[in-house]
Amino acid sequence: MAATTREWHLAARPHGEPTPEDFRLVEVPVPEPAAGQVVVRMVVMSVDPYMRGRMRSGPSYAPPWEVGEVMKGGAVGRVVDSRAPELPEGSLVLTDAAWRETAVLDAAAVTRLPAEEDVSPSWYLGVLGMPGLTAYAGLFRVGAFREGDDVFVSGAAGAVGSLVGQFARLRGAGSVVGSAGSPEKVAWLRELGFTAAFSYRDGVARGLAETAPDGIDLFFDNVGGEHLEAAIGAFRVHGRAALCGSISGYNAVEPPPGPRNMGLMVGKRLTLRGFLVSDHADLRPEFTETVTGWLRSGDLVVRETVHEGIEQAVPAFLDLLRGGNVGKMVVRLAPDPD
Ligand SMILES: NC(=O)c1ccc[n+]([C@@H]2O[C@H](COP(=O)([O-])OP(=O)(O)OC[C@H]3O[C@@H](n4cnc5c(N)ncnc54)[C@H](OP(=O)(O)O)[C@@H]3O)[C@@H](O)[C@H]2O)c1
Repeated sequence: MAATTREWHLAARPHGEPTPEDFRLVEVPVPEPAAGQVVVRMVVMSVDPYMRGRMRSGPSYAPPWEVGEVMKGGAVGRVVDSRAPELPEGSLVLTDAAWRETAVLDAAAVTRLPAEEDVSPSWYLGVLGMPGLTAYAGLFRVGAFREGDDVFVSGAAGAVGSLVGQFARLRGAGSVVGSAGSPEKVAWLRELGFTAAFSYRDGVARGLAETAPDGIDLFFDNVGGEHLEAAIGAFRVHGRAALCGSISGYNAVEPPPGPRNMGLMVGKRLTLRGFLVSDHADLRPEFTETVTGWLRSGDLVVRETVHEGIEQAVPAFLDLLRGGNVGKMVVRLAPDPD
């Protein structure tokens, strides 16, 4: 077992876009595990947009990261030393104790994962993990998807968005339009089977008018701002939006302007509903069975952008906020020993 481990601490709360100086990589001793604890070597960790919110103090649905302390986040690791009989050495586990290479954790605080040969450990941070459940719950429950719906997805080439578009197609959407930040991402969305896709950098309302000229029924929003305004304009009567995120405003110093066309909501009788994936944990068994089936049949395409090594965790996070990922962004911390 390593006597020391490296971990990322929050060094400062950013004003606007975070910079490398807001983080510090620190080497700390690994304590001896007590009874009921395990030593977990992280194999792969997640960087996610919600982490930008953890860097901010003030009211939120989750507590902030503290300055001078280790940051938290999802990771998959292997138990390399165990004082807990229910989690023997070699167990694959999901933890929220990432941003470090090795951690001593209470066995009750980690989730044992099945050892499936055809499932990459990183998928438990993406398609079979939090982003996958977000896409599933947001589309099917919050957005009340119906066969034949014409669907629009923003942030469509990311972890959540790329799954939303494919889930909608697999369940019989009338059409699926996606927006993303570059021509390369737009080309990939077409490969994934989106009916149409456009780069929002050329204007959202214009892109949506060109790709969905007859309007939309359902909008899955990862971006907010201009995207939400364009969707309100494009909705048919009784349109529905699942409001998943508003990443266009995450680095904003001033509150971003709201959609200017909210008045249309009345005449169109629209439903706009925000949600948190944590409220939909009851869907997990159905989600896992359905999505595993789509993965095994080859119907679902998964893409990841992978950085290597704990030193790359902060560059990966900063890159994620700037659109440097296609599909799920992860950081591989160690070769998986099993
Ligand atoms: N409600 C929940 O429970 C829940 C759970 C998970 C995630 N979320 C939210 O879902 C959204 C997607 O998360 P994810 O994990 O799938 O991340 P992601 O889409 O894989 O990565 C973030 C993407 O956001 C896009 N982006 C960044 N700045 C933007 C801007 N100003 N305008 C438009 N797009 C911008 C970038 O793509 P481009 O190159 O296309 O710009 C980037 O690749 C986020 O808003 C996140 O907060 C919510």
